[in-house]
Amino acid sequence: MKIGDLSLANNVFLAPMAGVTDLPFRLLCRRLGVGMVTGEMVSSVASLRDTLKSKLRGVHIKEPTPRSIQIVGWDPDAMADAARYNVDQGASMIDINMGCPAKKVFKRLAGSALMGDEVLVGKILDKVVAAVDVPVTLKTRTGVDPEHKNVVRIARIAENSGVQCLAVHGRTRALHV
Ligand SMILES: Cc1cc2nc3c(=O)[nH]c(=O)nc-3n(C[C@H](O)[C@H](O)[C@H](O)COP(=O)(O)O)c2cc1C
Repeated sequence: MKIGDLSLANNVFLAPMAGVTDLPFRLLCRRLGVGMVTGEMVSSVASLRDTLKSKLRGVHIKEPTPRSIQIVGWDPDAMADAARYNVDQGASMIDINMGCPAKKVFKRLAGSALMGDEVLVGKILDKVVAAVDVPVTLKTRTGVDPEHKNVVRIARIAENSGVQCLAVHGRTRALHV
């Protein structure tokens, strides 16, 4: 299986999980045969980059490739900048979080809340894809709530933006809370 020009050992993926998929867990899963792992989500807010939490969540240069890091945010330019920064730090793939249901993320119109603004989704994806020369992937839910299941439209927007792989958490945000 390939994502962009990066070859994976197989098609078994570890879902990104904040608080779970840290470096030791990723290394363990790779050793057990997982083909694709992604780190915990990191904020796209530049002023948070030097916090211990962000540093521990970043990719590790000694980690085998592909090294995928997931970014979360709402501002297209900040997301593009975060993508560039993480590639400079050693990421070989950028995943974008449009699935997080957490209140502190949702209320900033980030994570799964972005699915409610398809124009903004397109802007973020266009900017991030243009900012880096590594594959960009996307993680979504099926929609914000059962009345607004728009993952198919979001998938088309992503495809047009040049996103290389889409992972769907098969529930709406509303069914989480
Ligand atoms: C503890 C925990 C943390 C998670 N953190 C993230 C995250 O940071 N980014 C993300 O895209 N999804 C996150 N998820 C969602 C998972 O990647 C995955 O989509 C989801 O758990 C799959 O659905 P399931 O729970 O029905 O198996 C998290 C899930 C759990 C249980």
